[in-house]
Order: sequence, then structure tokens, then C-alpha cells
Amino acid sequence: MTNSDTIFTSTLDIEKLRKDFPILQTKVYGKPLVYFDNAATTQKPLSVLKNLEDYYKNYNSNVHRGVHLLSQQATDAYEQARKKVAAFINAAHDYEIIFTKGTTNSINLVASSFGKRFLTTGDEVLISEMEHHSNIVPWQLICEEKNAALKIIPVDNNGELIMEEFDRLLTEKVKIVALTYVSNTLGTVNPVRNIIQKAHAKNIPVLLDAAQAIQHIPIDVQELDADFMAFSSHKMFGPTGAGILYGKEKYLNAMPPYEGGGDMIKNVTFAKTTYNELPFKFEAGTPDMSGAIGLGAAIDYIQQTGIHAIQHAEEELIAYAYDQLSAIPSLRFIGNAKHRAGAISFLVGNIHPFDMGEILDKQGIAVRTGHHCTQPLMERFSIPGTVRASFSVYNTKNEVDALIKGIEKARKMLE
Ligand code: ALA
Repeated sequence: MTNSDTIFTSTLDIEKLRKDFPILQTKVYGKPLVYFDNAATTQKPLSVLKNLEDYYKNYNSNVHRGVHLLSQQATDAYEQARKKVAAFINAAHDYEIIFTKGTTNSINLVASSFGKRFLTTGDEVLISEMEHHSNIVPWQLICEEKNAALKIIPVDNNGELIMEEFDRLLTEKVKIVALTYVSNTLGTVNPVRNIIQKAHAKNIPVLLDAAQAIQHIPIDVQELDADFMAFSSHKMFGPTGAGILYGKEKYLNAMPPYEGGGDMIKNVTFAKTTYNELPFKFEAGTPDMSGAIGLGAAIDYIQQTGIHAIQHAEEELIAYAYDQLSAIPSLRFIGNAKHRAGAISFLVGNIHPFDMGEILDKQGIAVRTGHHCTQPLMERFSIPGTVRASFSVYNTKNEVDALIKGIEKARKMLE
């Protein structure tokens, strides 16, 4: 971090920032809402809510289809949002940004389309043991279809990738590595730069699942040299239903369309259809216009706040939460990675995560409990699930204190 970053980050006023998020004033069972389920979805700032209202009140119309003014306005706003996304992750070209329904849809697109073009019998796809189901099942589907094998990088007891195993598994049979940047369950930040460099040394492309990274960590896809990256609008203060697939032009051009329909074609006859150019080749049918435009507003919000400032504030809060939680007898962390972001998972004594979740809920504290769509990881740690507190920039140390009190109350009741 540079000096100017340090000066900048120290000025972030969280109490003021919280006023941008109307829902944070909500009471739950008469108690102030403490929202620690940000890895599931973040809350939305007023600027995003107003942007959606403005879209539907003033220029709701289909994109790329009409010569009429409203359609042109919607198209301009939609394409402007694409430019904002490209700038935010420093993509080389706007057309390398594909609007999708979300991370899951983005990964399914790559697994299916890249898989159809590049996978064949005996090939391998390399993922990790900490993947979300959305970065497992799409690869299982295509591997089955192509008679390819899915290989798994194991994690150690701290919830970090075992890099010696990665080195061993990265053979010439591997056609793509698909990896989460940040674990939604453990909060582990993976050494993706190192992984991409090693994969590229063998000409193997890498897909990053950035669903849990994009809102916490500044990401420059060119500098990282990621080949594909997937993320969701709703986890970065934007509306639900929209997401992004970033892909390098050379791969996107080589891959067949994922879905067929309107907008993705150049010319259709019953004899033969030709496909549109990027990015439209991968955007069949009416897209989520308001979602994409709202995502643009969410990116404006992040840019105005400063992603470095957000990262700094969150790192401080997570360090505080980690310290406070560490002091609770019988609490054990699931995941102790040196480099972490977003989420902290834990279990307390023999209290079932659901029971803990319910008691916290009655105190206004929203956490997620269960397997977090990472069942193989639960199997790795021989646990049924965890309690997960996941943080955003608008969370405060007072809220962490409320969580600690809530856990203590649960311990008194259940231990
Ligand atoms: N993938 C989201 C989570 O981890 C839903 O909660």
C-alpha cells in the first residue's frame, strides 16, 4: 500500500457511509439489525436503489433492438455499465465483459462452452477442495460429457491450498484450472497470482471465481493475467440477477455460443446461422437491463468510496473480529489462513450451527449457518456445517461486540 492510500483510507467515515444503506436502520425482533451475511448478498446503497427507480420510471425499454429514443437510452446506459465494469477490473476491451445472470451462470457458460471446444477424452480440469458447488458441478457435467477427469487441489488444516499438491497435479493433461479467489466459507485468499503464473508456464488457462473477492480486493485482470473471471452484482452492492463473465478475447472468440436466441446472431436462415461478435455472441435473449445498469451504479459507489479504502477498513474489522472471537472459550475457527477476506467461519463447543444461528437471529444478528454450498469442504473438516459471519465495509466494531455477546448468550443457554 502506498502512502497516499494510507492517508486516503484513514478518512473513511463508516457511520456516515452506513447512512447510504437504508436497510441498516431496520430493527429485527425490536433489535438493531446486525447484518453479517454479506457473503450471501450485500445490502444496497440508495444510489443503486435510485438508479433502478430511475430506469423503470424514465427509460425502461429493450436494448439493442429499437430505433426509438427510450431503447437508445437503455442501450446507452447498458453499454455504459459494461464500460464501467471493464474499467473497474481493467479489462483490455469492453467486449471481453459478458453480462450474465451471476457467478453461477458465468461459470456454467465457460465450463460448457470452453469444455465443448477444448476438452476431450483423458483431459483433466483442476479445481480445489474449497470450491463452491457452482465451481464444481458445472465441471462435473462437462467432464462427464467429454470423458474428462476432475482433479482436486486439497486444502490443509488451516484451510489453505496445499501448493505442493497443486504443482504435482498441474500436468500437461490439465486443460483449465478453475479456482476461487476467496473462499466463501473459510475466507481464505488464495495465491492466485502464483497459480496463474505456474499454469501459464504450461499454457493452461485459469478461471477465477471472484464472487467473494471483487467486493473486498482491488482486481486488475490484465496485471493478474487471469483468462476468465466470474462475479455477481448482488454481492457488490448491485441488484440481484446480474453478473459478469470476463474472458480473454482469444478464448471467447474460440468458444461456441452457450445459448441461442435473439441478439447473439448475425444472420439466421433455416440452413445456417452465423453468430454475432463479442460480447453479444454470449448474450442471448433480453438481458437483465436494469440489473446491468444498476451494477454500473454499484461500481460508481465502490469507486467513489475507494476499493483500497474498503479493503483497508474491512481488514481492520476482520482482525478485530478474529481477536474477539479468539477469546471465546470452546470456539474453534474453521479456516485459519494467514491471508483472509470477507468471512470467518467457526463452531462453538458442540452447539449445532443452526441452533447458534437461531439464537443470534433473535438478537437481530444475521449470520449464515450450514454447509455454505461447499459440502466437499465440510467433508474435508468432518463437520456438518459452520456458523459464518461475513463482513462488508458498513459493518462496525460495535456490531462485532454484539456478535460476541450473542455467542456468549448461546453458550450459556446451550453448552
Ligand atoms: N454463495 C453465497 C454464500 O456463500 C450464497 O452465501
